[in-house]
Amino acid sequence: MSENAQKLYYPPEALVKNAAVPGMEAYQALVKQAEEDYEGYWANHARKLLDWHKPFSTVLDESDAPFFKWFADGELNVSYNCLDRQVNNGLGDKVAIIFEGDDGKVSKVTYKELLGKVCKMANALKSVGVKCGDRVVIYLPMSVEGIVAMQACARIGATHSVVFGGFSAQSLRDRLESSGAVALITSDGQFRGGKALPLKPIADEALSMGGCEAVKNVLVVKRTGGEVTMVAGRDQWVEEVMAQQPDTCEPEWVGAEHPLFLLYTSGSTGKPKGVQHSSGGYLLQAVLSMQYTFDIKPDDVFWCTADIGWVTGHTYIAYGPLASGATQVVFEGVPTYPDAGRFWQMIQNHKVSIFYTAPTAIRSLIKAADANEKVHPKNYDLSSLRIMGSVGEPINPAAWEWYHENVGGGRCPIVDTFWQTETGAHMITPMPGATPLLPGSCTLPFPGIQATVVDETGTEVPWGQGGILVVKRPWPSMIRTVWGDPERFKSSYYPADFQGKLYLAGDGAIRDAETGYFTITGRIDDVLNVSGHRMGTMEIESALVAHEKVAEAAVVGRPDDTTGEAIVAFVVLKGPRPTGDEAVATIKELAAWVGKEIGPIAKPKDIRFGENLPKTRSGKIMRRLLRQLAKGEEITQDTSTLENPAILDQLKG
Ligand code: WTA
Repeated sequence: MSENAQKLYYPPEALVKNAAVPGMEAYQALVKQAEEDYEGYWANHARKLLDWHKPFSTVLDESDAPFFKWFADGELNVSYNCLDRQVNNGLGDKVAIIFEGDDGKVSKVTYKELLGKVCKMANALKSVGVKCGDRVVIYLPMSVEGIVAMQACARIGATHSVVFGGFSAQSLRDRLESSGAVALITSDGQFRGGKALPLKPIADEALSMGGCEAVKNVLVVKRTGGEVTMVAGRDQWVEEVMAQQPDTCEPEWVGAEHPLFLLYTSGSTGKPKGVQHSSGGYLLQAVLSMQYTFDIKPDDVFWCTADIGWVTGHTYIAYGPLASGATQVVFEGVPTYPDAGRFWQMIQNHKVSIFYTAPTAIRSLIKAADANEKVHPKNYDLSSLRIMGSVGEPINPAAWEWYHENVGGGRCPIVDTFWQTETGAHMITPMPGATPLLPGSCTLPFPGIQATVVDETGTEVPWGQGGILVVKRPWPSMIRTVWGDPERFKSSYYPADFQGKLYLAGDGAIRDAETGYFTITGRIDDVLNVSGHRMGTMEIESALVAHEKVAEAAVVGRPDDTTGEAIVAFVVLKGPRPTGDEAVATIKELAAWVGKEIGPIAKPKDIRFGENLPKTRSGKIMRRLLRQLAKGEEITQDTSTLENPAILDQLKG
């Protein structure tokens, strides 16, 4: 047996028996089916798992590659599939959402009630002139209303773009402008960690910056009761508009390719790109992965701790669980308030059976439990759990083992799900009732996904050899284009290096020599992953150089025990290089500035000043050296090609 094979964790018998994918043979059979009849495999699922208003007759259309189309002549409505379908199937009184506020207050919404709310919101949007095909930006905290707003857009065929509530006015403005939104749905504020934070004032600032004149209506949800200014003729309280609306609304039947949403995410260059998703293909994989990856069953209580501002909150809160008729927990607050036992307390209280969170949360809760015995998961009854998931970044084996042992009681499989905003749903992940688990590995591709590892020329490398992660065939829930920039879509995801034939994920990977299991080795571009949040180094650099004192900036990532990666910025000021108190004050000023330009998540953890940056004689910044300096490593290699080797000393931490 190989060293790795000895570390494998096998699924519990009881789980295998009733699993959607019961055992490795079942998994292999699905993989084989998809290989032998790729279109037939996806078409069967699409017919079985979704309700079509008009059935599709074509499956995959590759005529305009890489702009692939799936089920293109079929018609459906995503909100109908998530809500009406459940009510029609007798699930009207089933709880769809268990909402727990930051303050611990719990409220429950049934499928019937949710449908009524969504219809009212859909009618409210229509009443202010929002039409099928319009874009609506949603800037809301974790709330029932956030999900209702997304579903309401889907119901009338408006394309939503959710902006994470932690993003700044500038970031919100950029997304409003880029998407050409006609309406904005926001709230007075949000509660996090016992504090009321404003949102509407940030939205007002964004709207006043110019460039988003297309926004004619702002609908405001009341949450914190914080003070807001309502602009006459533009702003209205959602509750008031909804109160005048009927609670039924005929769904708008749209083509399967109709853009359900845009979600902005960071790339290696330029401004964040608007990843455009479809309706039919996207929903199909949201539902299928709820079955295969999470093995969702009628009695499960599902909890995904992501925010609706990220793709995980789209697929595994707003769409997947509802389209599966599941009961899910939606949480407004943070894992550490009122104490770091909050997640465990909530799993116990709501009898959560499937729990999906991020490695960064696990690592910070490990630290908290080490420091304070009282918030250790062993103090809670977590026996309701049967499956646990991880997403957003590689999970280190030590955190995996802790999660498995202390949260899952050693009995719950962990699905380490690798995927991206662009992929729409899980790409490489264990099947909980089949795949033997190897801590730190996301194991094998989702049935039907043809992922592999190649070298720079696009040639597959043997197992055991690291390379570039690619996907060989288009899949239903994939990105359709970059909103307003089809060229960028092609160059980012179907680069000429691979003759435009392979989807480039942007991550490196290596397959285990014996099992073929995938391990993601991290981004191969200039994208950082901080606490599972994607950020482009260029974006942060642009924000820094927009400050009046800054002449030049270079940003790199450094491994961090809790957040995965930490942002380190090397800055050259226009004035003299600051030292002592002046340096401390400038660091604070610049960090706050980046927080304001992008959002608090983009604040560098470490800012260092130099009179210059290490550059080659041709003026290229030597990022490799900066990465080493950021890590505190001694620079041992030859630096004679540097124009200014003396600068390295100034930039040491
Ligand atoms: C990283 C989040 C290792 C990866 C769903 C990817 C992961 C980026 C994993 C996408 C995982 C996500 N193991 N790395 N299980 N999941 N990543 O778009 O670098 O916010 O490219 O989507 O996160 O981040 P995004």
